[in-house]
Amino acid sequence: MSDARPVGFFDSGVGGMCILDAFRRLCPAESTVYIADSANCPYGNRPAEEIVRLSEANVEELLSRGCKAVVVACNTATAAAIDHLRRRYADVPFVGLEPAVKPAALRSRTGVVGVLATEGTFGGRLYNETKEKFARDVVVIATVADEFVTLVERGETSGPAAEAAVRARLTPLIDAGCDMIVLGCTHFPHLRPLMEKVAAGRAAILDPSDAVARQARRVLESRGLLAPASNEAVHEFIRHQVEFADNPSRKLT
Ligand code: DGL
Repeated sequence: MSDARPVGFFDSGVGGMCILDAFRRLCPAESTVYIADSANCPYGNRPAEEIVRLSEANVEELLSRGCKAVVVACNTATAAAIDHLRRRYADVPFVGLEPAVKPAALRSRTGVVGVLATEGTFGGRLYNETKEKFARDVVVIATVADEFVTLVERGETSGPAAEAAVRARLTPLIDAGCDMIVLGCTHFPHLRPLMEKVAAGRAAILDPSDAVARQARRVLESRGLLAPASNEAVHEFIRHQVEFADNPSRKLT
């Protein structure tokens, strides 16, 4: 069984493209549609009902373009909306994200783990249940870093201002003994080179992109939805009205 229809992705903006890129590397035969809801970015500090409404609109748009499955490439939208989306669109396979607290807790030698995410993600059931279940024996330092979202939406992922912002968030975590820093927001892997520079080997930066891509592939495979290997993949990028005038549009490679 195979299915050449595209896989849909959405995020509050360009953040989730780290997931899209990982998926495209892993599954080159799959067509994709990506929605960057930059007009409504950030999602991070919105009430859950609002995020549910925005997520539903994104899913409707992806389904109207014939998507066979949806990757919610946003931790915040997953936290607020994935249960609702799975109930509302029972026939559609969904893949969501939550901060990789479990692998961080397992790998930490210092017993101190830092998590960078949005307020919405930290308030969600998934994060709190996972933390309770798998990170009871480590100290978890939760840090909201909304300014990273703003930087990435502007395309400002290098330079002195971005480096200063990264340093300001990471240094206290490293000073507190964190040897694992979990990127719990899909905008943050875009700043990973700067984070690696600031961490300078003192803490590992955990980026979930490849793991999520593998999970998406498993979900498609288990439902007989993988595209035929010979499929000539087509990629569509939709960006809802951009808030930042200086934002260079990103070209898919
Ligand atoms: N990229 C989103 C996430 O993974 C959040 C960014 C936002 O606040 O909109 O959580």
